[in-house]
Amino acid sequence: MFLSVSVLAVLLVPGAWAQSSSSRVGVVVEAKNITLPEGSKAVLPCHSPRMVWTQDRLKDRQRVVHWDVVRSSPEYSVERVLDMSPGGRQRVYNSFNKGRVAVPDSAFTDGNFSLVINNVITTDRGVYTCNLHHHYCQIHQSIQIQLNVTKSARKERRYWDGEKTVFVVLLGSSVVLPCVNRRPLWREGLQEDQQQVAHWDFQPPGVRPDRADRLVDLYASGERRDYGPLFARRKMYVEEDAFTLGDFSLSISDLKPVDKGLYSCHLHHHYCGLSERRIFRLIVGPPLPPAPTTAPEISENEIPEPSRSLH
Ligand SMILES: *[C@@H]1O[C@H](CO)[C@@H](O)[C@H](O)[C@H]1NC(C)=O
Ligand SMILES: *[C@@H]1O[C@H](CO)[C@@H](O)[C@H](O)[C@H]1NC(C)=O
Ligand SMILES: *[C@@H]1O[C@H](CO)[C@@H](O)[C@H](O)[C@H]1NC(C)=O
Repeated sequence: MFLSVSVLAVLLVPGAWAQSSSSRVGVVVEAKNITLPEGSKAVLPCHSPRMVWTQDRLKDRQRVVHWDVVRSSPEYSVERVLDMSPGGRQRVYNSFNKGRVAVPDSAFTDGNFSLVINNVITTDRGVYTCNLHHHYCQIHQSIQIQLNVTKSARKERRYWDGEKTVFVVLLGSSVVLPCVNRRPLWREGLQEDQQQVAHWDFQPPGVRPDRADRLVDLYASGERRDYGPLFARRKMYVEEDAFTLGDFSLSISDLKPVDKGLYSCHLHHHYCGLSERRIFRLIVGPPLPPAPTTAPEISENEIPEPSRSLH
């Protein structure tokens, strides 16, 4: 009922794709067949702006929690209740709420961002949202809770109305509107450095996914490791500034029938909880006639993006 923690999306991919999906971690965000003529150059796309390497130098300023309330009576209004960043004090906007409404000071340590309201008054009624923003990781999460106030203890209750939790609370009592997210991302102590990595794998036809060959590992630190002679011979190529642009596309020149198979690009940003895979089945067709008058035929069969979880 609270912030949905990232769950690997169910992979709706047919046949061979599905096999390789189950064997490794990561959400398949793209799966395509690409057919190119022998002798041509393939560029297998793999982009993600979220992989761009910008160190979280400001650390704590990049995260913020804020609670807002929407009231429908006496008239419609939206109000910021409070906000807080790690290392900063919480800001309570309405002076009447100072000392009465708060989030635990340990919020960014233990992931408990719940809003505590003491001595509930009638005008506390409204729909509250707990919003967590991680600017560096471009992750935004929010949940809603409705607060109603009653004068009769008999009417106190909490329930789920199909969209959000509704709390009916006794006038003058205290209430905790829950907002808990224990993902390490929202808490302290995680080192971002060295936790961003991209790699490409190649699986020739008839080879099991777990026997795929690693082609190259790319680290945000600038380190690269390529395996076999293909990169040294410039047969394969990934841009030097991949992490600056978030572009990890693999170029393969002078295609030969032996190049056919499944290529997969894996992007991992552990700090931000990003783990994505893109899979391409490369098919090498007959070479083009000597004086080509038409552009190479590219057949791409796209699978719709699987529903992505809330990050
Ligand atoms: C979160 O903090 C509130 C206020 O301190 C507390 O009442 C509640 O039990 C905590 N929730 C969890 C899940 O720790
Ligand atoms: C809570 O308040 C809303 C809006 O004022 C109202 O529509 C709803 O019936 C109330 N629910 C309860 C259980 O009091
Ligand atoms: C790609 O081609 C294979 C056969 O080579 C086929 O089974 C599969 O369905 C195709 N995938 C897509 C996404 O069209």
